[in-house]
Amino acid sequence: MKQIELLIEKFELVPHPEGGYFKETYRSEGEVSPESLPKEYQGSRNYATSIYFLLTSDTYSAFHKIKQDEIWHFYSGSPLMLYVISEEGELSEHCIGNDFEKGQIPQFVVPGNHWFAAKTINPDDYSFVGCTVSPGFDFKDFVLPERKQLLEKFPEHATIIKSFTRL
Ligand code: GUN
Repeated sequence: MKQIELLIEKFELVPHPEGGYFKETYRSEGEVSPESLPKEYQGSRNYATSIYFLLTSDTYSAFHKIKQDEIWHFYSGSPLMLYVISEEGELSEHCIGNDFEKGQIPQFVVPGNHWFAAKTINPDDYSFVGCTVSPGFDFKDFVLPERKQLLEKFPEHATIIKSFTRL
């Protein structure tokens, strides 16, 4: 699709390990010191960061988790479905998009330490969104689990886990 190539080129998007493409658009200069962060963070973090994230219908964003809440913002393209599993094993689905009459929402917060995955709903399409976190993103806080590991934790969600894991 021409629009996908255009977005990748225009916004200098690169492949993300979870699937899709991204580009960091903001990283605050200020930092939070390790003493001011919860114990599970190692080292300091920027106050906040933001990315563009592009997902296409030929792939998906695999289940992963980070420590902090992540705010998703819808920009353009197909609505996107977010699948979220809490540590207690509660699964929820959230449709991010701009057809508000159909119940889609333009912004959604994935709570920290929850496993989440995403897919573009329409075939042959893309979803262009933004993701903002505070404290700022660091790959040290990013966990991309193996399928086996998630299946052991949440056997009741085997179908969705198998659909959204590659490792
Ligand atoms: N920077 C690199 N990857 C990510 C991500 O998955 N989320 C956010 N918010 N920032 C990132």
